[in-house]
Amino acid sequence: MQSFQRHRRLRQNGSIRRMMREHHVSSADFIYPLFVVEGEGIKKEIPSMPQVYHYSLDQLEAELDEVVALGIPSIILFGVPEEKDACGSEAYAEDGIVQKAIRLAKERFPDLYVMADTCLCQYTDHGHCGVVENGAIHNDHSLDVLVKTAVSQATAGADMIAPSNMMDGFVAAIRAGLDEAGFENVPILSYAVKYASSFYGPFRDAVDSTPQFGDRRTYQMDPANSREALREAASDVAEGADVLMVKPGLAYMDIIRQLHDRFDVPITAYNVSGEYSMVKAAAQQGWINERNVVLELLTGMKRAGAELILTYHAKDAARWLKEAKE
Ligand code: PBG
Repeated sequence: MQSFQRHRRLRQNGSIRRMMREHHVSSADFIYPLFVVEGEGIKKEIPSMPQVYHYSLDQLEAELDEVVALGIPSIILFGVPEEKDACGSEAYAEDGIVQKAIRLAKERFPDLYVMADTCLCQYTDHGHCGVVENGAIHNDHSLDVLVKTAVSQATAGADMIAPSNMMDGFVAAIRAGLDEAGFENVPILSYAVKYASSFYGPFRDAVDSTPQFGDRRTYQMDPANSREALREAASDVAEGADVLMVKPGLAYMDIIRQLHDRFDVPITAYNVSGEYSMVKAAAQQGWINERNVVLELLTGMKRAGAELILTYHAKDAARWLKEAKE
């Protein structure tokens, strides 16, 4: 008989499988997204995202208690403002919803690492991520507003700035703005590689940011491209990005891997709203085992090369990981 390899030797029982395991998901890898709204007494489920809620600030504390108790080190805040206008001025208002949420979170939970998403689409009446002039998104004028937004978030106490707007030069502009305002120690997590994806649908319901005209394809990337992702990432690293993000995660695991191999900065995978909702819907139907599927997906992102995972599953996953240890 021709000789062959006995791979099953290393799979014989739980102990050896644990010893041979190459990648691990841990609650320390998670960034948990939260949506904050004005008002009082609001904890309102987002219809297309089961178990994800809008929180008014008075409801936020209990939620943060849970996040901290589960050992999740970090949150990212998305604001849903009451008023929108053409240039997204609520994005940088001192008493904007995100600025207030950051202050509250840092005051009550000084050790919780608070990130701020720096973008304009939730705040503009046209729903685009930048300033619109003559029917087009004006790159450099958008940068001015984004810098103001990032500085206002850092001033409120944000530990990290996470710009997702996909304007060219946003990392350089925001870095310069933060440095000038004395925030040279606040890192930038750049959504360097953000695709024009249909997986953002439920998020856009959540924050009411569907573009009122056109789409985001003049600034977000074409899903068919991978070499373009490397160029985007290279320029963001050169401009001073401390951490890179790939978004979405599941359909772009190859991009996570390529960035991880090419660049020496930490990589974050954004497991986006549509990915979350697909799993939830199938689980509600009883078609998949939610726990196992979620842990498998998150492990896949780690294996692909992500150090951090931004995921709406974070609380559930942290709970399951904890149970597995007990
Ligand atoms: C833009 C932004 C988007 C998401 C996070 N930040 C959406 C978009 O480009 O429309 C999507 C996240 C998700 O789907 O979970 N500010």
